[in-house]
Amino acid sequence: MKNKWYKEAVFYQIYPRSFKDSDGDGVGDIRGIISKIDYLADLGVDAIWFSPLYASPNADYGYDISDYKAINPEYGTMDDFDEMVRLLHGKGIRVIMDLVINHTSDKHEWFVNARSSRDDPYRDYYYFRDGRGKNGKKPPNNWTSFFVGSAWKYEENTKQWYLHLFDENQPDLNYFNPRVMEEIKGILRFWLDKGVDGFRCDVITLLSKTAGLPSGKKRIALTGSEYYIDGDRMEEYLGELQEVLREYDAFTVGESVFITVDKALRYTSEDNEYLTTVFSFDHVSADNRFGIKQLPKKFNLLDLKRALTRWQNGLYGKSWNTLFWENHDSARIVGRYVSDRVNREEGAKMLATVLLTLSGTPFIYQGQEFGTISARMTDIKDYKDVDALRSYALLKKLFGKKKAMKKLAYCSRDNARTPVQWDDTQNAGFTTGEPWLKVAPSYRDINAKQAEKDGNSVLHYYKKLIKLRKGDKAFVYGKYQDLLPKSKKLLAYLRESEYGKLIVINNFSLKTAKFTLPKGIDGGAYTLITSNYADSPKKLGTTALRPYESIVYKADGKNA
Ligand code: NOJ
Repeated sequence: MKNKWYKEAVFYQIYPRSFKDSDGDGVGDIRGIISKIDYLADLGVDAIWFSPLYASPNADYGYDISDYKAINPEYGTMDDFDEMVRLLHGKGIRVIMDLVINHTSDKHEWFVNARSSRDDPYRDYYYFRDGRGKNGKKPPNNWTSFFVGSAWKYEENTKQWYLHLFDENQPDLNYFNPRVMEEIKGILRFWLDKGVDGFRCDVITLLSKTAGLPSGKKRIALTGSEYYIDGDRMEEYLGELQEVLREYDAFTVGESVFITVDKALRYTSEDNEYLTTVFSFDHVSADNRFGIKQLPKKFNLLDLKRALTRWQNGLYGKSWNTLFWENHDSARIVGRYVSDRVNREEGAKMLATVLLTLSGTPFIYQGQEFGTISARMTDIKDYKDVDALRSYALLKKLFGKKKAMKKLAYCSRDNARTPVQWDDTQNAGFTTGEPWLKVAPSYRDINAKQAEKDGNSVLHYYKKLIKLRKGDKAFVYGKYQDLLPKSKKLLAYLRESEYGKLIVINNFSLKTAKFTLPKGIDGGAYTLITSNYADSPKKLGTTALRPYESIVYKADGKNA
């Protein structure tokens, strides 16, 4: 396995709209981010992935781009952006942009032209098709959108339908048309020439649709997905993107819904053939059914372990994993995998330990580093996300109002999008104005300022773990082995490499759980590196772990 900068780095995700507002309009902005660069450097992160900063009418808050080469004026100017990149680079922090190329906004000039007439030169940038049935009033196929309902929208003026796998304001780009790829390559060059270091590639594995766009087998969600996830031209498209990316040695992480290890191995390699790495989602689906967050179930540690074993071992030595608990598309992890009421801080620290002691590149989502919990809003009027609103309408039909609201409060994306809780003043120090999305009430107790002051806080624990990981390659390059695959309470694993051996034990339960030293391991060789309790045993041995207790031991490799 090759040593690489991105394997040793810790990434941080900023959702700009909610990070920090500098001008009192209630919306986060670039100057707000600039004001927090010292905070980010102090946390110890090496790279930042920015959710979209481009011009957008905000149907999906930036994931509907109307101009790929412009900064959203709500966030600032191109000069602000350039300054931010310069300042981040000055601190040794790399910049990763979000690349949203499966679709554009319906306000993008390509689409504005395309929809104007059947003969428009841009028509074929998108999927316009005749409908089925008498008068063509039935959509061209039965595909459903990720945001509920048909994936097609009828256009009265040209009497055809267009495809949108997400919101109707997000028409899908047609990669059968080679001009589309040429346009995208130009966009890549534009940002790479500005000095950005790479891209997080939004729903990248949806780019290749099966020719003829056949109807799919009916399913609980995403009907038709066998014809648009990991389609047969995927590698060809990634290869084309890579022609540009390679010139700049750019890092890429591909968001890959429902991806399997086999597919990931085809797309990723340490030589950046296609993508550097992918985001897979199995490990964050241990509290839902079929990978669908709107169908929550009680967290199941065995599901998590199976996912970890599959991915940790599946990619090891061949490719490279990403590690994450949170992003802007899911509820906060505290409250899902651990309680947000009992032993909250221990739970958040335990999850920090797991994140930073596995094989892969860790990504921390804004606010996670000080243990932010979900807002769990109870009034549908407070929700802003298109996915939340559309899911709610469906859930209400299926389960009734009360249950629908409960499910939404558990899983909605707005949970992770509420403004960052900087302090306990009004609006959590995020804005002096009216925040675009309500601040979560937990800001009085859970906020960055308070966490900075308290040496025992989740924030300080994250800082410590980040430092440990960056100072010791055993955390980065070790091979993973699940030591207790059958335990329903403990997640215990070994990481082994030429840099030494680590044993990490985590009690995912609120009850005491006994850890017994597995056969063949000499506990005497291991010493305590860190723990989320002040008095964990100094030597590895049989021990009873307390609620959410998490302990890291290390052996230098000689005697273990
Ligand atoms: C994935 C993004 O992470 C999500 O926020 C967005 O809604 C969809 N892709 C569509 O771009």
